[in-house]
Amino acid sequence: MAGGGGGSEIDLPRPLVDSDFLYEGAPPDALVDLGRALFFDPILSGNRNISCGTCHDPARGTGDDLSLSIGEGGTGFGRDRRTQDGVVSRIPRNAQPLWNIGAQEYTSMFHDGRLEPDPAATFASGFWSPAREDLPVGLDSLLAAQAMFPVISHTEMAGQKGENAVATAVAEDRLQDAWDLLAARLAKTPAYVEMFMRAFADEYDGLVPADTVTFVNAARALAAFQSAAFRSDASPFDRWLSGDADALGPEAKLGMQLFYGDAGCSGCHSGPLLTDHGFHAIAMPQIGPGKGHGEDTGYWRASGFMARLEDEGRYRVTFDADDLFAFRTPSLRNVSLTGPWGHDGAFDKLEDVVRHHFDPVTSLAEYDVAGADLPPLDHVIEATGFGSELIFRPLNPARREAFALRDVWVQQSRALRARIAAANTLAPQSRSDAEVAALVAFLESLTDPSAIDRSDLVPMHVPSGLPPQPTPARSGDHGG
Ligand code: HEC
Ligand code: HEC
Repeated sequence: MAGGGGGSEIDLPRPLVDSDFLYEGAPPDALVDLGRALFFDPILSGNRNISCGTCHDPARGTGDDLSLSIGEGGTGFGRDRRTQDGVVSRIPRNAQPLWNIGAQEYTSMFHDGRLEPDPAATFASGFWSPAREDLPVGLDSLLAAQAMFPVISHTEMAGQKGENAVATAVAEDRLQDAWDLLAARLAKTPAYVEMFMRAFADEYDGLVPADTVTFVNAARALAAFQSAAFRSDASPFDRWLSGDADALGPEAKLGMQLFYGDAGCSGCHSGPLLTDHGFHAIAMPQIGPGKGHGEDTGYWRASGFMARLEDEGRYRVTFDADDLFAFRTPSLRNVSLTGPWGHDGAFDKLEDVVRHHFDPVTSLAEYDVAGADLPPLDHVIEATGFGSELIFRPLNPARREAFALRDVWVQQSRALRARIAAANTLAPQSRSDAEVAALVAFLESLTDPSAIDRSDLVPMHVPSGLPPQPTPARSGDHGG
């Protein structure tokens, strides 16, 4: 299809339409309202100290402006987030942006796609996921299924064993108990019961009110909210696609020609969301604690911390050697708002992550971790003991340096970098500075101006009575 009034030779995507999204783009209001309250309410976290919106902040491109998030136990938002109340680790990956996440073309969730629909229905839920047979039935979309997971992550939302009943249930592998405990919290809040009743009135006719308050229903409401709130397809590029020849300036047009032509970007960043939903290894540098993958015990031996620090990406889902260090192609819609970039936020300049693609192996070798946004970890707690004896204590100050090393260990190891480099599938190409600038101009034309600050989505109050996260903008700031 040719945009901008024709004349273009390149193969452009079709514009997004309502039917591309869950609920044909129009989920019921009562469901969206419930999902909105839940998304910003810390009640879904074990220690009642973090919400989905803390890491997926609608004023920060639906991310947190950090390379790697600080989960529960942190305080503050964006680059001001600190570890005041004690955390055990950074979150190992960059908080994914949620723009257009309700598009039905998504075939997996997370950087490694570890949650996927399973048409063969190996498990009753109909999804492949790390929860395997524990994922309940009734999750009516991939996005709803995703919402089951942040709340059972110790570092993201649940907290540590012994701190609260939800975290303890997770630690003891009683996932359904963890979800039930969260639903029971909601059922104790009359305003939530009323909202669930309204949202699920049709389905639960004749049941007592509390029966509608399940975590599966909470997850369905979260999906409806995200699908409606984060749809974002009013960028200059969209106007160009629907025939407005003036929507793109000359530099962005040149960038578009390169993107869909010589530079080969659309080989992976294809379709209306500018992603093929595939997994590719492009030698992204690794910073942070990783996912505990790999055989390397060098850090363990050097630091005394029983940890392995690699993140082997898709390989850990498929165990297919071709998937080593492969990550899902990110959608590039609103990409200018979603930095830092890469699965671990290694790059904090859009131009730098674009340049990385031109010679991934050299870029990996020369990468400087100073280009990452990693707030200090001042208050770290560590587990001591085993099983039911597990307790968490502040990190011994003498061990701070050894702990901090995990931010850079993989990147500083020649051998571990070589594994990432060996998996790279992107051929080098050479581009002039003008071409790079044109590509960046094109990427900027993928920004929907209305997405720049959606802090209007954060409600002033949530039903639990806890302060919503992030802090709502004062109503006057948004004229309403
Ligand atoms: C502590 C920060 C944090 C919190 C809190 C959090 N997330 Fe996330 N979210 C992330 C990170 C990091 C990823 C990527 C994880 C990965 O790939 O392993 C992610 C991934 C996602 C994805 C997948 C997007 C995609 O493109 O595949 C969705 C959807 C999502 N989160 C929604 C939520 C919802 C809903 C909640 C609340 C129930 C929530 N998140 C709470 C950090 C967070
Ligand atoms: C072989 C497939 C492939 C090609 C070709 C490709 N990319 Fe990527 N791109 C990826 C993958 C995979 C990632 C994420 C890698 C990671 O995080 O480890 C990515 C990340 C990005 C990011 C960062 C997005 C984010 O949210 O973190 C940008 C920007 C980007 N690519 C732009 C481009 C441009 C511009 C081109 C053409 C010059 C291009 N890509 C070509 C696969 C590709």
